[in-house]
Amino acid sequence: MSNTVKINPNGPFSVKGNLSITVGDETEEKTSAYLCRCGASTNKPYCDGAHKSCGFEDVGSLGEHKLSEGAASDEGELSITTKKNGPLVVIGPVTLSAGEDSAHSSRLVLCRCGASKNRPYCDGSHKAAGFEAD
Ligand code: FES
Repeated sequence: MSNTVKINPNGPFSVKGNLSITVGDETEEKTSAYLCRCGASTNKPYCDGAHKSCGFEDVGSLGEHKLSEGAASDEGELSITTKKNGPLVVIGPVTLSAGEDSAHSSRLVLCRCGASKNRPYCDGSHKAAGFEAD
């Protein structure tokens, strides 16, 4: 199964593939997940629909970032680890997509606090925003 991270406008990341999601000491194997990127979910790192009520707005583009060449295939495990009070660190072969655009990568650091000026990527704004999450 190929690994994909889809950036939904005004909403979460839709992630599919051979996923390993680690929060603190706990790792879950999954094939799909909706991951919060507005920072307001009460079930982080998963989306609980809070983006609708918190007024999260983001066009959902690939943004300004040098995506690495990545692997020719998206087969293999995609490791997603939450950084405490910070971003999602995604390691493994993956296609990042937004609308009609897509790119390959092997390492992404994705904003989940909603405050980055360079979404979908973390730019360190979670510190000033006082974002708190495991
Ligand atoms: S997690 Fe949002 S800027 Fe780092």
